[in-house]
Amino acid sequence: MVLFFVVWVAAVASGGARGQGTRVGFYSRTCPRAEAIVRSVVQSHFSSDPSIAPGILRMHFHDCFVHGCDASILLDGPTSEKTAPPNRQLRGFDVVDDAKAQLEVACPGVVSCADILALAARDSVAVVNSFALRPHVLLSTNGPFWSVPTGRRDGRVSLASDAANLPAFNDSVAVQIRKYDEKGLNAQDLVALSGAHTIGTAACQLFRYRLYGFPGAASGADPSLDAAFVPQLRALCPQNGDGARRVAMDTGSPNRFDANYYGNLRSGRGVLESDAVLWADAGTRGLVQRFLGIRGLAGLTFGVEFGRSMVKMGNVEVKSGAAGEIRTLCTAVN
Ligand code: HEM
Ligand SMILES: *[C@@H]1O[C@H](CO)[C@@H](O)[C@H](O)[C@H]1NC(C)=O
Repeated sequence: MVLFFVVWVAAVASGGARGQGTRVGFYSRTCPRAEAIVRSVVQSHFSSDPSIAPGILRMHFHDCFVHGCDASILLDGPTSEKTAPPNRQLRGFDVVDDAKAQLEVACPGVVSCADILALAARDSVAVVNSFALRPHVLLSTNGPFWSVPTGRRDGRVSLASDAANLPAFNDSVAVQIRKYDEKGLNAQDLVALSGAHTIGTAACQLFRYRLYGFPGAASGADPSLDAAFVPQLRALCPQNGDGARRVAMDTGSPNRFDANYYGNLRSGRGVLESDAVLWADAGTRGLVQRFLGIRGLAGLTFGVEFGRSMVKMGNVEVKSGAAGEIRTLCTAVN
């Protein structure tokens, strides 16, 4: 009963959730257990390695921004997308492969790799907050949960050179907004989706320039960083230390999917420059303040808006109908 209630509320919260060519429950007759299979695979991988949750969430984003959400990120090959620098640290490919293997047994040739990734991204978010509380029930009790429209088909093209569409760690707000706009997403989607950085980690090499020898700063550190936060980050990322070392992006609650990210931006504790500038820019700052629930502003509820923007992002340039194919193996075209 409680279970049904949560699902219903989530479905309503995500606003009907229907995109061009996708719909909630696409597999309800052709592969009724599809969503349950993906969910159980995510849950079992998460219980042995919680870092797959941020890994998969980011992978879905990187899929959607390059050739649309068509699983192009999953294809192997000497010059495929996954070889591009922003994709080299992606984690969780084995989760998708596992889910695909089980789905090919349950309903061969039916469920696309692109849909597996979209469902696994939703389940990854749900599992972060619910697992600690109720390991056997993979439903978000106090974090975002949304219905995922499905029906995507898998693409056949994957080129590292196309990964330039992806927003970069040092992009200005104007560039970030332009890259989102090219995908039919707006500034509110940008601020909502950047909230994904409430979990996961970033490599020192992507933000260390903000800590040492920052141009024009007497302290050596980017002045938009909280002065008390700088020594903490310096301890985690020594000047000549390993640039590949990873640091939690949400210092306050790295393992909870919560709105703490926005509080970090306000207090100068955004780790990446691309996050920090969302507070520095007057336009996006107004949106951050709405996520913070500042009195007098029209509030935005992170848990609801995140799911809504994920559904929008999940519909970017989706292939449906006769386009694309249903891959047998997620790592190779048929
Ligand atoms: C302006 C947009 C964005 C930029 C510039 C950006 C940039 C980055 C960078 C530089 C990292 C660290 C990567 C590394 O150290 O290897 C990262 C991590 C991450 N990003 Fe984003 N990101 C953006 C938007 C998003 C969106 C839309 C999502 C998902 C909805 C997302 C989810 C994540 C997650 C979960 C991680 C942690 C990955 C892990 O721990 O393995 N990001 N992002
Ligand atoms: C961002 O960093 C990359 C790699 O270090 C560099 O090539 C690029 O010029 C930088 N972009 C901006 C806008 O500073």
